[in-house]
Amino acid sequence: MTTVLVSGVGALGGWALEFLARAPGVERVVTVKRSPWQGPSWTTIAMLGAAIEGHTKQFEHHQVDLADVATTARLLAQVRPDAIVHSATAQSPRRLAGAALDPGLRAAVRSATFGMWLPWHLWPAAQLTRAVEAADVETHVVNASFPDVVNVAIWKRFGHGPATGAGNLEVCAARALRYVMAKTGRPAADIEVSLVGSHALLTRGTVVPHHFRVTVDGADATEQVDLAAALSTWPEPISWHDAVPNSLYAGSAVKNALALLSDEPLDTHVAAPTGRPGGYPATVGAGTVKLRLPADLSESEAVAINDRAARFDGIERIEPDGTVVYTAECRAAMENLGYRCEAVAFDDLPSRCDELKKLYGHLTSAGN
Ligand SMILES: NC(=O)c1ccc[n+]([C@@H]2O[C@H](COP(=O)([O-])OP(=O)(O)OC[C@H]3O[C@@H](n4cnc5c(N)ncnc54)[C@H](OP(=O)(O)O)[C@@H]3O)[C@@H](O)[C@H]2O)c1
Repeated sequence: MTTVLVSGVGALGGWALEFLARAPGVERVVTVKRSPWQGPSWTTIAMLGAAIEGHTKQFEHHQVDLADVATTARLLAQVRPDAIVHSATAQSPRRLAGAALDPGLRAAVRSATFGMWLPWHLWPAAQLTRAVEAADVETHVVNASFPDVVNVAIWKRFGHGPATGAGNLEVCAARALRYVMAKTGRPAADIEVSLVGSHALLTRGTVVPHHFRVTVDGADATEQVDLAAALSTWPEPISWHDAVPNSLYAGSAVKNALALLSDEPLDTHVAAPTGRPGGYPATVGAGTVKLRLPADLSESEAVAINDRAARFDGIERIEPDGTVVYTAECRAAMENLGYRCEAVAFDDLPSRCDELKKLYGHLTSAGN
């Protein structure tokens, strides 16, 4: 029986639950979240949605706080999930995106980059990794929570971690494919998009280092594609800050989990495969992820592009023990908001999460 566990059932995890409910080949879906709210109800709704589609899978929900590694490990040892779709975060970035901040403060927060909030995403993923270790279960973790940085830090700190991330670069690759299909009038089967890039490529566009190639019928057509246009408003502007775009990221996470569980190799793009920074074209299948880079790009060159791109998320480097060091620009911008942090160390994650929550409260009340 194939079991997938969803860790964190919020905006993204809720969509992942719905996709898994309808996915053939998954026989049991287990959901986990911290508070008593929403989890039982959403899991029951997913069960009913599965029945409408003709599935009679098993569903179960557990209220578990990832802070409690022993309880999480006991649950994992009992459930023995084949894959875990992880999206737990101490606080969703959607809250800040939707908060009423004055334009000056909003710009100051933006200068501090998404990387400022890293502890909120890294801490739950670290706790899950500890629980997987303690439970001694064989599973494939797909981490959707800021994978471009979180997966790298986790792999360095623990020597193992999520098989892949989700979303981010995959959304850019999908936009590029649809753009090329529209411009050439050719079906997807005739087009090969190859994109190396990071979370920042999605949020900041083509000023961020990346590598892009597209072939149509095997012939290089890269020069004919306006990637900046493909990644901006084409074909219509998207409202990124409501809950709906989470279907994209959750769909990507579920696609990666199912591909890892399948023996059929899937050519795709993935964010943060096996601890590498940023995203890459890759082949996923039978529990493995293999990079599928174009002939003119070596793996070390691709990783170097994404290391440079990480600076647009405020990340200077990630030390061998997983400590994440901020860029000077990011440090200055964070200090401007009243938050001093040179680097995020694993031992400091709980206190950093608390400090950021206090700061968030202060910033959002200042904006009202
Ligand atoms: N990769 C991508 O392309 C992409 C795109 C969008 C978002 N994301 C990331 O996805 C993550 C989730 O975002 P979201 O908007 O879905 O957040 P959300 O709606 O706040 O959901 C977060 C979930 O995590 C759970 N959680 C938090 N702390 C927990 C803990 N200690 N133990 C167990 N469960 C815990 C929450 O449960 P409670 O409510 O019970 O606390 C909630 O169900 C974020 O890291 C976000 O940055 C990634």
